[in-house]
Amino acid sequence: MPRFGLGTWRMGESKAKRAAEVAGLQLGLDLGIRLIDTAEMYGEGEAEGIVAEAIAGRRDASFIVSKVYPHNAGRAQAVAACERSLKRLKTERIDLYLLHWRGNVPLDETLEAFAFLKEAGKIGDWGVSNFDVADMRDLERAGGTDCASNQILYNPMRRAAEYELLRRCAERKVTVMAYSPIEQGRILRDRRLATLAEKKGASPAQICLAWALMRPNICAIPKITSEEHLRDNLGALDLVLDKEDLAAIDAAFPPPRGPARLDML
Ligand SMILES: NC(=O)c1ccc[n+]([C@@H]2O[C@H](COP(=O)([O-])OP(=O)(O)OC[C@H]3O[C@@H](n4cnc5c(N)ncnc54)[C@H](OP(=O)(O)O)[C@@H]3O)[C@@H](O)[C@H]2O)c1
Repeated sequence: MPRFGLGTWRMGESKAKRAAEVAGLQLGLDLGIRLIDTAEMYGEGEAEGIVAEAIAGRRDASFIVSKVYPHNAGRAQAVAACERSLKRLKTERIDLYLLHWRGNVPLDETLEAFAFLKEAGKIGDWGVSNFDVADMRDLERAGGTDCASNQILYNPMRRAAEYELLRRCAERKVTVMAYSPIEQGRILRDRRLATLAEKKGASPAQICLAWALMRPNICAIPKITSEEHLRDNLGALDLVLDKEDLAAIDAAFPPPRGPARLDML
């Protein structure tokens, strides 16, 4: 699974922005980013249509992640939802298919649907999103031991997962996908982050992304529409943070000292 990808939340909500959104994803693919994260929820399917346009003619160079709504996660409903996503994405396979967050449908029903979809070759792997430690435990008890990924809110301002969840996922080879890795831009206004970025000759966004990517088990999926942001974020892949930098981040955004609830956006 690629370690760096592009998000698509809020894409497909405005006709006026559509061309720019497709172009942003295409430029990302041109620059070697393969993973695109989407969901049936984003633009109520419209974001998947934008992804289809962006990957047209180069499906093999992309790794597509999509998500099923919790209320569509029943045995038959999840299969039908996946078929609808495949149609909108104009592809025969979703590389990674996630349960968007935990809802009321029993997990074993969703797992049955995922197993069926995998067996049928409609999805490559399956995973979850916004699952905290207790949810991961329940997932295992329900038989979900081959979960490939847990997509969670993770950035220097949102470190709850560090107390236990990251370690647990690493031990079970569940890749963590860090969503909103720059806190939808809000963290970039932090003065302490700006000071560290200046010292490193980097941008604040690069610091956040390099910080998340330091752990071998984490993949980050910032959303980008502007070319400037895209090129800036790619610079994070070459940025190395040392002990002193990490201490500065810990001082500004302390890690959890005990169990903390996983936030979700
Ligand atoms: N599973 C879930 O429940 C869940 C929840 C939230 C998000 N997600 C996924 O994660 C993806 C990313 O999260 P997100 O969209 O919430 O937030 P994000 O990636 O943290 O932030 C996106 C915002 O930051 C701006 N930006 C990007 N790079 C920048 C840079 N280098 N300098 C300054 N600004 C920059 C973007 O602007 P431009 O667009 O103008 O470039 C956009 O406004 C989503 O798109 C979605 O695919 C999943």
